[in-house]
Amino acid sequence: MEDRKSGRPAASATVLVGTQFGDEGKGKLVDYLSDKYDIVVRYQGGANAGHTICFDNKTVVLHLIPSGIFNKDCICVIGNGVVIDPNALLEEIKKVEDLGYDVRGRLFISHNAHLIMPYHKRLDSLSETALSDNKIGTTGRGIGPSYEDKFARSGIRVVDLLNPQVLEEKLRENIAAKNKLFKNIYDKEELDVDAMVREYAEFDKIIDPFVTNTQLYLNRQIKAGKTILLEGAQGCLLDVDHGTYPFVTSSNPTSGGACTGSGVAPNHIDKVIGVVKAYTTRVGNGDFPTELNDEVGEALGRIGHEFGATTGRKRRCGWIDLVALRYSLIISGVTEVALTKLDVLDTFEEIKVCTSYMLDGKEIHDFPTEHQTLSRVTPVYKTLKGWMASNSGAKSFAEMHENARNYVTFLEEALDVPVTFISVGPGRDETVFK
Ligand code: GDP
Ligand code: IMO
Ligand code: MG
Repeated sequence: MEDRKSGRPAASATVLVGTQFGDEGKGKLVDYLSDKYDIVVRYQGGANAGHTICFDNKTVVLHLIPSGIFNKDCICVIGNGVVIDPNALLEEIKKVEDLGYDVRGRLFISHNAHLIMPYHKRLDSLSETALSDNKIGTTGRGIGPSYEDKFARSGIRVVDLLNPQVLEEKLRENIAAKNKLFKNIYDKEELDVDAMVREYAEFDKIIDPFVTNTQLYLNRQIKAGKTILLEGAQGCLLDVDHGTYPFVTSSNPTSGGACTGSGVAPNHIDKVIGVVKAYTTRVGNGDFPTELNDEVGEALGRIGHEFGATTGRKRRCGWIDLVALRYSLIISGVTEVALTKLDVLDTFEEIKVCTSYMLDGKEIHDFPTEHQTLSRVTPVYKTLKGWMASNSGAKSFAEMHENARNYVTFLEEALDVPVTFISVGPGRDETVFK
């Protein structure tokens, strides 16, 4: 299959990852790219994600369904690595169908994906409350507790929804265990097992048409010459292994997670697109060396409309951080960068770029991932000239303002990875191919 936008042959599988703290504009990029892939797959996370797509004067936020769904020729798969709240999924299917997009025969859900149950959401909120001053600032969607059950080998999976007897058995076991926690640890009322058994039995027939062995399906499609785009949620610095632990999510957004979360083996992947926002944002708690608690940070948030797409929380803002990005790009093996929200910098006379950190009087270039060190670094900045102009009309890199091109080239050289897409607005057509 020809890569129509770049002219290069498309890889059988491409991974697209967030390289910062999430919300880099992955949804926009996946929607934009989906017309040259046959299948788009979400591989981790759950409805904690909020991927925004703007098209036909509409703005739609997707939480679980892959961002290729508004391309009618694209098949969408929710992989085994995702944790699914069945109620959230049905709500989202309805939202997409109400917009005139049929999902039957175009949306497949892994039989091995784990479920998020009401007790996971409740535990998410109770454990956050218990952390008092050290809250993670989770999205409250039950993500951590669901992955806990997965790794404790007691979780309930999508396939279990299709077998009422097994479902009832597992629900009774799980709820008995959780009720002990609610009653004895948190001093809360217990959940009504029978009501939940009745409620979840209803999902059987509704969800059945979507459920399949997506691992085998994807590998058969690869063999048949189809191309796959693996859509990451969150970002590298929120990765449970590689991020700013413990202020992370409970999955692997980095490119390695794309293999375990989909069943697509590494040898099928020959391209990793890293989505980089032209500045940095973070929602929730945790270290953020370039955070700006001043009018510049305020301006970035105001111009960039930096409010969480899932929870509506105000995002913390700061300049771009090349120390963190160099690390993220290495961990995910990023082969090309998609730079987003460059337009948000259009009105800044000067733009700062963090090139190293100071730690105990010494300059360091490597990103420390332990809180005790990261919380003590201060950023070292290089100041670049702003462009004080809009690039929204630019059809090519050459048509962009010289200072904007200098900014992009500076990032490219510092990161040692080519920038191939530059996004200058939320719409599909506000994308410059470099
Ligand atoms: P995601 O989680 O990575 O998909 O990103 P979000 O959807 O949470 O946040 C990105 C926000 O920026 C959304 O509101 C997008 O519509 C918007 N956006 C994406 N690309 C651009 C861009 O290049 N310029 C501007 N101004 N907004 C963008
Ligand atoms: P997308 O895919 C930004 C953050 C939360 C919190 C931490 C853990 O839209 O980029 P969780 O609910 O996952 O246990 O919360 O991770 N977080 C995100 N931040 N974008 C996201 O997704 C996020 N998903 C989770 O704010 O700090
Ligand atoms: Mg988001």
